[in-house]
Amino acid sequence: MLLIPTTSYRTEDFLNAASNLGAQVTVASEEPSSVAGLSPTRFLTLDFSDPESCAAAAREFVKEHPIRGVVGVDDRTTRAAAAIAESLSLPQNPPLAVEIAQDKLLTRRCLGEAGISQPRFREMKLPLSSAEGEEIEFPCVLKPLHLSGGAGVIRADDVESFVDGGRHIEGILQVHEDEKIRGDGRILVEEYVPGWEIAVEGIVREGRLSVLAVFDKPDPLEGPYFAESIYVTPSNLSGEILKKVTALTEEACVALGLISGPIHAELRGDGENLWIIEIAPRSIGGLCSRTLRFGAGVTLESLIIRHHLGLSLPEEGREDRSAGVRMIHAPKAGVFRGFQGLDGARSVSGVESVDVTVHAGREVLPLPDGALYLGFIFARGKTSSEVTASLRESFSKLEVIIE
Ligand SMILES: Nc1ncnc2c1ncn2[C@@H]1O[C@H](COP(=O)(O)OP(=O)(O)O)[C@@H](O)[C@H]1O
Ligand SMILES: [Mg+2]
Repeated sequence: MLLIPTTSYRTEDFLNAASNLGAQVTVASEEPSSVAGLSPTRFLTLDFSDPESCAAAAREFVKEHPIRGVVGVDDRTTRAAAAIAESLSLPQNPPLAVEIAQDKLLTRRCLGEAGISQPRFREMKLPLSSAEGEEIEFPCVLKPLHLSGGAGVIRADDVESFVDGGRHIEGILQVHEDEKIRGDGRILVEEYVPGWEIAVEGIVREGRLSVLAVFDKPDPLEGPYFAESIYVTPSNLSGEILKKVTALTEEACVALGLISGPIHAELRGDGENLWIIEIAPRSIGGLCSRTLRFGAGVTLESLIIRHHLGLSLPEEGREDRSAGVRMIHAPKAGVFRGFQGLDGARSVSGVESVDVTVHAGREVLPLPDGALYLGFIFARGKTSSEVTASLRESFSKLEVIIE
């Protein structure tokens, strides 16, 4: 059973993976029409915001149609997947672990108790006052507890930007549809940790983490907003540092109680220290998983489905070539009209595709207000530096048209 939100980027990739494995698929979504054109065996309509109702519906469903595994394809379905799996005794993360991992404050507390290296943090309540700002060490990072993709994450360097940042987050939260996300005005205020940043993609099995890929983020992410741009793998970090990365990420999974399924972690480091920035109980977002191929072309989605069906994972690691993606965010607010220069961007050596993922006519917001991807550039090459250069050149040929 694949839990796929109607607006997921991952629909096609997960359905293709399931079909290649010869699995009979039930797609559960908020509306049955969302995956029309693709061919799952069955549909089930679920309200992902209410995991208990999803579990009850799934218990009814399996009386007629037994299922062997349940996969939540992204952030919005992991809680429902955990509730369903628990109620059907399928291997998954416990619901409590998922709840903690999806709350940035609970995550920090839990990692803190386990002594895991992470930025110092405190909980604060909006609105932020100048008096509170006087007590903060700058630079710091302000963060809503339940958003992702960099939405609402703001660096503040002084009292003024601290108070303004708080006000900005209030505005972002106020217009949110989801009550849980609007929350009660609590946010995280963290020490800003400098240094390089990487992303770790892995699968946890019986409490052990297998790292599938480590991505470097070669463009600096220094704020005040954090629009991720390039991800490239393999990492240029030394084997010694990568060992520490794996060990720290695994410790963090154990601390959070994440015991089964994909994880996507972000870490920063500066040569001496290594800090967990975030650890999410899901695979990489957007279309970025398309950078990854294992053995003879096996996809990440295929590994995830195999994991949840209790099948063995292929021995082979990622392919030998380097691979990367350039995520494209809205540079400003307005109505998206399209890209100019697509042909040029696609013709750059090493570039495999430039995919546009937003319809013309849609209103878009830049970070930190909106975390929508307008598109993705994919490249492969001999080395990670070569791939990074291809992605940069391709991106430089694109112009985003926003009215
Ligand atoms: N404490 C911090 N110090 C430095 N940079 C940070 C810190 N927290 C977040 N960032 C930057 O902001 C980005 C987004 O923050 P993150 O906690 O990962 O939220 P999200 O769930 O939106 O991805 C990170 O990838 C990192 O670049
Ligand atoms: Mg993040």
